[in-house]
Amino acid sequence: MDFSAPKNGFQAIRFDGDCLKLLDQRLLPAQERWIRVETAAQAAQAIVDLVVRGAPAIGITAAYAAVLAARQRGSNLAAWQADLDLLGQARPTAVNLRWAVERMRSQAATDDGLDPDRLLGLAESIHAEDIDANRTMARLGAELIQAGSGVLTHCNTGSLATGGGGTALGVIIEAARQGRVDQVFADETRPWLQGSRLTAWELARAGVGARVIVEGAACALLASGQVQWVITGADRITANGDVANKIGTYGLAVLARHHGAKFMVVAPQSTVDPAMANGQGIEIEERDPGEIWRAAGLDVAPQGFAAWNPVFDVTPADLVDVIVTERGVHRPPFAFGQH
Ligand code: MRU
Repeated sequence: MDFSAPKNGFQAIRFDGDCLKLLDQRLLPAQERWIRVETAAQAAQAIVDLVVRGAPAIGITAAYAAVLAARQRGSNLAAWQADLDLLGQARPTAVNLRWAVERMRSQAATDDGLDPDRLLGLAESIHAEDIDANRTMARLGAELIQAGSGVLTHCNTGSLATGGGGTALGVIIEAARQGRVDQVFADETRPWLQGSRLTAWELARAGVGARVIVEGAACALLASGQVQWVITGADRITANGDVANKIGTYGLAVLARHHGAKFMVVAPQSTVDPAMANGQGIEIEERDPGEIWRAAGLDVAPQGFAAWNPVFDVTPADLVDVIVTERGVHRPPFAFGQH
């Protein structure tokens, strides 16, 4: 399969025969440096360290890492299963990670052992399915946006976060190409600045004019009437339509409702967790307070000062106007429990 240049986006994850290459997202936009991953442990660490991030992207990374691990483990299925445990536990909130790991495990069960070529076939399918899903969602989501709209997005949901052209950002770029979007705003997304570092970089590459705002400007922006759609991705969608996504998403959904803007969530089916009834069951990742103390190499809080750093929140389904997956446009009341 050729993943080198999908029409809708670019590739930040490349399987290179004997290794996995990841575009190091911690360094963007200043540097475009690739890191080489040869083992499951290195892949798990890259996921923990946010070298690669975004729900679909970490699932795809884990799938390819399972192939590398199978080659190394030979017939030692137990050691390979331990590698998969490590990958599956690298981050807790995005269900895509465990979904991909479990698909790799099922393949080994079907094959009755480790067959690296068949595992590679599955990893490539997982990747290709995501590219296709991105394309379908971009089309479905863009159709919902009325010409002349202003949109606000949060975090990064583009090619860096997925296998293809992105989820929410894919919709925004497609809608901009169709001339439906007047203005695009990207929240900077503290503390990792996925919005200002990554989304702005992707929008510039795509030739879509946009403005970055600090988180605190979102209220004033929505109050100004310049935004008709807040559009985000998701890390997990539960059966009732509750949505876990980057911290700050919930606040944007409240703001959208208050100011009469619509709130759209765009995510592939691999982000849906039909077995989880509602968002109360979602484990929210909490990261090191050091991520809050320092920014761009500077102390922005006294070192060691107490901090709380949850990196996702849960938006209740009743604040969500529409959820777009590759299967279609879903409106309330959501019912993702029935597959
Ligand atoms: O911590 P991150 O950068 O992995 O968080 C990513 C997000 O919250 C995205 O919105 C989500 O994964 C959807 S990516 C298509």
